[in-house]
Amino acid sequence: MMDVTATVLNNVREYGDYWRLRVKIPARYAVRPGQFAMIRPSAQWEPILRRAMVFYRVERGAHALEAEFIYRVMGRGTRRLAQLRSGDRLDVLGPLGNGFTIGEPPPTGRDVALVSGGIGIPALYLLAAELRRRGFVPRLFHGDRTSDVERGLICVDDFYALLGRDHVLCTTEDGSYGQRGVVTDLLESALQNRAWRPLALYACGPEPMMKRVAQLAHQFHIPAELSLEAAMACGFGVCLACVQRVRRDDRITYVRVCCEGPVFRAEDIVWEEPMVDRPSSGGAQNGTP
Ligand SMILES: Cc1cc2nc3c(=O)[nH]c(=O)nc-3n(C[C@H](O)[C@H](O)[C@H](O)COP(=O)(O)OP(=O)(O)OC[C@H]3O[C@@H](n4cnc5c(N)ncnc54)[C@H](O)[C@@H]3O)c2cc1C
Ligand code: FES
Repeated sequence: MMDVTATVLNNVREYGDYWRLRVKIPARYAVRPGQFAMIRPSAQWEPILRRAMVFYRVERGAHALEAEFIYRVMGRGTRRLAQLRSGDRLDVLGPLGNGFTIGEPPPTGRDVALVSGGIGIPALYLLAAELRRRGFVPRLFHGDRTSDVERGLICVDDFYALLGRDHVLCTTEDGSYGQRGVVTDLLESALQNRAWRPLALYACGPEPMMKRVAQLAHQFHIPAELSLEAAMACGFGVCLACVQRVRRDDRITYVRVCCEGPVFRAEDIVWEEPMVDRPSSGGAQNGTP
C-alpha cells in the first residue's frame, strides 16, 4: 500500500452519470484484479474522506503506472471527482484489498462467468484480462437499468474488444440495449443450458443481484466470488466502517471488507435481512463525510 499524488491525464464524461478518469501514478506497484484505491482530489478538505474506486485498467511503464477508474456520480465525493481537469492532482492510496482468486484451468473445462450490474462492471475488466491470459474463456453477463442511445452501456465496448462480442451478454430493464430484464435471469437461462457449465462465477454489482448470483451458484454447485461495495472511511482496516458478517469455521463473525475483502466466497457471506420501516440513521445512508 502506498499513498502517492497522481496526476490527472484526462477525466471525461462517458454518458449520464458515468465518468472515466485516467491518471498517472508515480509508482510501479502490481495491482491484482479486484483491488481498489481510496482517492480524493489533492488539497481539498471537503469531503474529508477519500472514496473507494476499483482499478479498472492499469498499464505499468518504466517509472509510473497509468490507471483508469470508471465512476458513477453519486454524491459529494464523486461530484468533486467530476470537476477534475487534466494536470490536476489526486491523492491515491492503494492498492488495497484482496482481489479475486484465479487458478489455472483444469483439464475439465475453461469456461468462467463474470456477472456485473451497473457500476459493478469496472471490477471485472482486469479479472477478465487475467483469466484470458491464463487460458480461461470468460463470458460476461452485464445488466443496467437503461443505456445511452449513442454509447450503449458503460465499459461494454472495452469488453467486446477483450472477449469478443459473442462472449458479452447484456440486459437492460427497459429493453433499450440487449435483452429486456435483469442480468441474473439471463445468467440463469444460460446455466440451465447444460452445454455450458462455467467452472466459476465472479460478480460485482448491487446487493439484490449479488444475492441472486449466490443463490444460483449454490443451486448449480458452482464456486462463486463476489466483490462487495461496503461504505468505507479509511480503506485500510482501522475505522471498522466497512464490517460484514461472514461464516468462518462454522461460526458467524465480522470481517472488514477493505482488508479481508472486498472479494468473498459467496457461501461465506451472511446477507443482512431487509429491515422493515428502517429509521433514518444518517451516516452513509445520507452520504459519506
Ligand atoms: C471496494 C470498492 C470499490 C468501488 N469501486 C467503485 C468504482 O470503481 N466506481 C464507482 O463509481 N464506485 C465505486 N465504489 C463505490 C464508491 O466508493 C461510492 O459510490 C462513493 O464512495 C460514493 O461517494 P459520494 O461522495 O459520491 O457519495 P455519498 O455522498 O457518500 O453517497 C451518496 C449515496 O451513495 C451511497 N453510497 C455511498 N457509498 C456507497 C457504496 N460504497 N456502495 C453503495 N452505495 C454507496 C450513500 O448511501 C448515498 O445514498 C466502490 C466501493 C468499494 C467499497
Ligand atoms: S474502511 Fe476503515 S476499516 Fe474498512
